Amino acid sequence: MIPFEQILVLLSTSFLVASAKVSSEIIQPIRSSGDEVALIFVPGAYQKAEYYSEIAGVIQETSQLRVWVALTGGYDSDYPNPRELPGAIDDAVSGLKQAGMVSDFYVGVGHGRGGIVLGTYARDSGLKALILMGCILNDTLSDFPVPVLTLASELDGLVRVTLVVDYFEQLLDSVSQSKDAIYRTPVINIQGTNHIQFETRPPLPRAVTRDIKSDVSDTEARKIISRHVNSFITATFRSVAGDVEVSRVELENDFIESDKRFKPILDMKALQVEGDSFPWASIAQRYFAGEFDNIVEVNNTLYGDIEEFIKFKPPIRYDVASGRFEVHTSAFIEYEGDYQTNQRVEKSPAEIRLKLKSKGAIHSARGAAPVEEWSCRSLNELALEYALNSSTSHARDRYHSRGRPMVFEDDIVATSGQEWLSTPLTIWRDADGLHVQAVALLAAVDSPMYGGMHYCCVMAPSQALEWIIIDSLRDY
Ligand SMILES: *[C@@H]1O[C@H](CO)[C@@H](O)[C@H](O)[C@H]1NC(C)=O
Ligand SMILES: *[C@@H]1O[C@H](CO)[C@@H](O)[C@H](O)[C@H]1NC(C)=O
Ligand SMILES: *[C@@H]1O[C@H](CO)[C@@H](O)[C@H](O)[C@H]1NC(C)=O
Repeated sequence: MIPFEQILVLLSTSFLVASAKVSSEIIQPIRSSGDEVALIFVPGAYQKAEYYSEIAGVIQETSQLRVWVALTGGYDSDYPNPRELPGAIDDAVSGLKQAGMVSDFYVGVGHGRGGIVLGTYARDSGLKALILMGCILNDTLSDFPVPVLTLASELDGLVRVTLVVDYFEQLLDSVSQSKDAIYRTPVINIQGTNHIQFETRPPLPRAVTRDIKSDVSDTEARKIISRHVNSFITATFRSVAGDVEVSRVELENDFIESDKRFKPILDMKALQVEGDSFPWASIAQRYFAGEFDNIVEVNNTLYGDIEEFIKFKPPIRYDVASGRFEVHTSAFIEYEGDYQTNQRVEKSPAEIRLKLKSKGAIHSARGAAPVEEWSCRSLNELALEYALNSSTSHARDRYHSRGRPMVFEDDIVATSGQEWLSTPLTIWRDADGLHVQAVALLAAVDSPMYGGMHYCCVMAPSQALEWIIIDSLRDY
């Protein structure tokens, strides 16, 4: 029998051997002339180097450049890491030189985890550009020392487009200063592809990969991805001006097309924060005003501090001279605790709390007869309508044909402010879809302390949109 200590020694020895195993496979260019570029691939977590040979081959065919390829692999537990990456890149570069590459146009290409470690490494390295597939740069695009192409799949089940949109926002900002950003740090939202289509691997159930079913075939996806990669490397490295110009026009079109898919996310986010107010609360209040919505002036304060929010009571004022109402509403947003660090978690709020005036309060301020009150549920229905209307027609059709629907349940009615505050927006998923149950607190118009208040804990339009474009499409 082997003593326990010896097993440990054996284990640690094999660990060292494994860590010295990082390697790269060099693939020769298919063109005999042209500007030389090398794509050095770093695989996703637990993926093999060879899973990327197919996409590399399609890029070689697509491009007029003389494209060399190095597929790195053999990381510890197949998990690319900052400790082994520099050695892997050095190894790839010497392999490329030995094989006959003359230029030093080395481009790091990382998928998922590979892109994350590559992004940190590339800041201070010999790499001349970076291509990120299904991952994001942990840095600011405009400050980054080399050009970066971010390829986001619309149906990426792991790296949400609702996360990548932050980088598109950075790009929009840069483009407003210089159009060159479109060529230097493009952020492309590829219609209908998913996370896994950057590689060719033996199939796994989607419940394991956590990916979403794509709308395009793997063959088609590889063609599209290769076109984008080619536009970027041609615009960056090609010496033939005419070819550069063609690629720049392609990147401009990609920017416009990507904007169509990112815009709904940005539009729904814009309903959430505008300075220190929450525009959606004003829309909700006007909705509650019913037929008086055109004579209601709504202010809103978005509180960052829950104590301040708790103290707030919405005032209403009817100005006889102008015949208009002024209502001041307030809002508080709750996110999932780890929404910024955990890519799996929704990027939209987990719930929003609104302090509004009831429909009855507005009618009564006008001297109108008592009315039946709206429900908080109706605000969730309105949020879904806004989100659907803002979606691309493609996303809408996809949701209607294969997305699981939202099911709006009747409000949970709280009987005290305390109960309202401590009862979360209730959400659960089952075979019928996503059930959403708002929490309401409603005081009679003539109630002495809180007369006419209507408090709602509901979902944000951005949350409805995230369900429509991502989570409703999961089939696990
Ligand atoms: C992102 O960068 C920050 C600051 O440089 C660092 O602390 C963090 O670990 C990085 N995150 C990842 C996922 O690499
Ligand atoms: C709305 O906000 C503006 C600017 O802060 C303020 O002048 C106005 O009095 C507010 N109206 C109400 C109804 O609170
Ligand atoms: C959504 O679109 C429909 C159809 O165009 C329209 O009737 C409806 O008013 C829109 N809803 C909202 C909230 O904009």
